[in-house]
Amino acid sequence: MRINIKAITLILFIVFLTIIGLSLVYNYTSSNDSIGENPATISSIPDAYNQAFRPQYHFTPQSNWMNDPNGMVYYNGEYHLFYQHNPHGSQFGNMSWGHAVSEDLVHWEELDVALQPDEHGMIFSGSVIADETNESGLFPTDEGGLVAFYTSAGDTQDQRIAYSTDEGRTWTKYEGNPVVPNPGIVDFRDPKVIWHEASSQFVMLLAAGNKIMFYGSKNLRDWDYLSEYGQDVGAHGGVWETPELFQLPVDGNTKNEKWVLQVDMNPGSIAGGSGGQYFLGEFNGKEFIRDEKDQGINWVDYGKDFYAAQLFNGAERPIWMAWMSNWEYASAIPTHPFRGAMSMPRTLSLQTDQSGEVQLVQQPVEEMKDLRMEPVYEMADKTISEPVQLSSFDRQTYEVVAEFKVGTAREFGFRVRQGTETGEQTVVGYDAENGYMFTDRQYSGVTDFHPSFSGVYRAPTKIKENGTVTMRIFVDRSSVELFANGGEEVLTNRIFPSLTSKDLQIYAVDGEVNVESLKIYPIESSWKTS
Ligand code: FRU
Repeated sequence: MRINIKAITLILFIVFLTIIGLSLVYNYTSSNDSIGENPATISSIPDAYNQAFRPQYHFTPQSNWMNDPNGMVYYNGEYHLFYQHNPHGSQFGNMSWGHAVSEDLVHWEELDVALQPDEHGMIFSGSVIADETNESGLFPTDEGGLVAFYTSAGDTQDQRIAYSTDEGRTWTKYEGNPVVPNPGIVDFRDPKVIWHEASSQFVMLLAAGNKIMFYGSKNLRDWDYLSEYGQDVGAHGGVWETPELFQLPVDGNTKNEKWVLQVDMNPGSIAGGSGGQYFLGEFNGKEFIRDEKDQGINWVDYGKDFYAAQLFNGAERPIWMAWMSNWEYASAIPTHPFRGAMSMPRTLSLQTDQSGEVQLVQQPVEEMKDLRMEPVYEMADKTISEPVQLSSFDRQTYEVVAEFKVGTAREFGFRVRQGTETGEQTVVGYDAENGYMFTDRQYSGVTDFHPSFSGVYRAPTKIKENGTVTMRIFVDRSSVELFANGGEEVLTNRIFPSLTSKDLQIYAVDGEVNVESLKIYPIESSWKTS
């Protein structure tokens, strides 16, 4: 038999190329789509929720675009989260209301799209209220149902309603729409409807360019103009959007309650781009009157990615969630096949701080602890001056709970989602010299998809009277949320590190800091099927 050397060389060459090709594909998928941590934990995450940048305990739609939370309501044992959604693509467009439900605020089930665009326009942000006594007359029985308020965004923006008799699964748009026609204002949107007990009426807030407009109704269908607020106060770097209004006791004292008016703004926020501010005062059923002591601008979150927060109507506790993104770069973030994530649900309170000022305080809901696993690291009363690398720390999703006694160190904190090979890290720390908490995501991973993504974000934070500061940090596959000093200051930021960047370091710069206490809890994926 004659051996054809040329043919054999060619075959060997083809085999060689195939092996190289396969290994490249393997490396690509293993660094982008699979995980390098404890396989026992990971194997039960459904493939659809197992990408490098897929948050593991923050809600995301399985695919396509999402922005603001909408229609949040607790009803018949379910928390409903509707959201601005493009069911047909991963960019803003075809705006509809997506829908997810949860019984525990931690595990979410995505349902069918609830409201779709029609000949009047897209379905922009809004709210849902449970009409449990059929005040609207929209329901066949006295048991009532759910009423959704949304902005129809067509040639102009007006407010419309839809109602549901099957716990939000299907909706009928009201024949008498719009319920609030456009009065000649271009930006006229985002109806938030609440029940105002003291004046026995429903109140609707609308964002109208540079102010908030208030309307009142007894039956959810006929609305009368009440007042407007905000043209001359607060931050006005951009258009006002997605307002909220709620009442909270100060320091837990139900005899001393204040109203909080929360307003989002795009752009012009503290960290750049879109963000939220709030005002404290009184709502008397007609007008919002700001406290004289409440001066200046109160930012809701000092990070870049917390927008359009909304509370659950009908819940026993004040709980809100927000869109974890920023209009500056939302359409460019490098996630696939979904784009957009929600923050963790947070409980709200008003607390008087050391300087006597009342402040909005945010904490993750207690239910988040259900996803905690046994702590993998603990430290108590230990002085550090050099970085401490947590040996064999191998996690992408975890919670850090730390208290520091401020010493001589100029700066201290944590370097999370670190990778020796990738050179990536996100720094979450306290700058003791200048008095602020910060998150530095300049080297956090993929940052070059938009010029305004990379940066350092700072929240002025005082050392407590006992000389300490606390940090509670939630790290996920593509976010870092810092709750400082018990939630008095919050920084929410997205990051896009490699799956392999999993190291964690505690550090101090130019001096010492005492770690009073530290615990690190891995957080289990809420997508886990078992
Ligand atoms: C806020 C917002 C709202 C609007 C919606 C459109 O992020 O701009 O004002 O209703 O998003 O998706």
